[in-house]
Amino acid sequence: MSISFIDLAAQQRRIRAKIDAAIAAVLDSGAYVMGPQVREFEAKLAAFGQAKLALSCANGTDAIALPLMAWGVGPGDAVFCPSFTFAATPEVVPWVGATPVFVDVLADTFNLDPARLEAAIAGVKAKGELTPRVVIAVDLFGQPADYPAIKAICDREGLKLISDSAQGFGCTLGGKHPLHWADVATTSFFPAKPLGCYGDGGAVLTNDQDLWDLMDSFRVHGKAVAPDLVGRTFDHDTKYLNTRIGMNSRLDTIQAAILIEKLAIFQEEIDLRQVVADRYAEGLKGFVLATPKVIDGGVSVWAQYVIEHADRDGLAAHLKTQGIPTAVYYPVPMHVQAPYADFPRGAGGLPVTEAKAETVLALPMHPYLSKADQQRIIEAIRAFNG
Ligand SMILES: Cc1ncc(COP(=O)(O)O)c(C=O)c1O
Repeated sequence: MSISFIDLAAQQRRIRAKIDAAIAAVLDSGAYVMGPQVREFEAKLAAFGQAKLALSCANGTDAIALPLMAWGVGPGDAVFCPSFTFAATPEVVPWVGATPVFVDVLADTFNLDPARLEAAIAGVKAKGELTPRVVIAVDLFGQPADYPAIKAICDREGLKLISDSAQGFGCTLGGKHPLHWADVATTSFFPAKPLGCYGDGGAVLTNDQDLWDLMDSFRVHGKAVAPDLVGRTFDHDTKYLNTRIGMNSRLDTIQAAILIEKLAIFQEEIDLRQVVADRYAEGLKGFVLATPKVIDGGVSVWAQYVIEHADRDGLAAHLKTQGIPTAVYYPVPMHVQAPYADFPRGAGGLPVTEAKAETVLALPMHPYLSKADQQRIIEAIRAFNG
């Protein structure tokens, strides 16, 4: 029998009655866009992420774009980010006319290397063509980046810090969520994410009310928001007073209603994922090149459980014959993808990123992975080696 890579059905069986009731309530209300569940979910999400405020939007990609737009990042600006990430991270940078600068990652955590970041910033400053503005740290595979080190660099250089926590929402470092260090933390509710909905969705967490207001404007076609109305009266819907060029990026009320139910069991699911991760670490020790290393003091939400193997493709093929699905995140780093190949790279290039792309393999991971199924996976990997 084959094993699921991510078993969304198991979670749904658990909370189906609540989800059905939540969806029915939205259908009955007719408030399909920006209904009361959207604000309720934003408040609950902010509380979970130790934030004052959360702004929901249409997906985790827009969630990264919104703060860039609100900060006025644009042509001539450099935005530093890893290349070992999903396309969405660098993609939004050229959207606003700015330039992504690719920075290598640490070999053990796969997250942004603070020393390489410093070198990349120094390189951009020395060249003098771009102005360093923003760093996007990614909580890859679910674990927090090295925020204390990255934040210190951002403070020294006067840069904004975005935590792209699409994979890591819920992760902590020393008990603190990434927003403790970042100006904003963004996330995705794509169904396969640890906190996913039944479609697309995303959010930005921040402690800054002015920034929240600006992003609220950008997510609804640049509508006028409170600060725009100071000293003037407008007696119509503020959606029809457009004070900037924005976009349409709202979280559907139905998705917010679903997410309220999913958030209620999220912490428990994070704990269950940790049990699965511990079982893998124990069972695979010595049988693969590396099992995941989490930063000291860090708690991962285990969006992915990524091992390294010298014969990664051979192992994946072997597991497939046993009905065990795997995935490679990411086989082609962003800095070598054709549309991104001409963007600058930090000094020294990205040798770690390029090496990792050859060895990483994600194993089935979800909170409801049974001990028996997991044992089958572990034994199949051990057999491949032996
Ligand atoms: C690291 C990272 N950033 C951003 C995103 C974008 O999220 P979405 O697919 O909701 O636009 C994703 C997810 O797919 C991701 O993995």
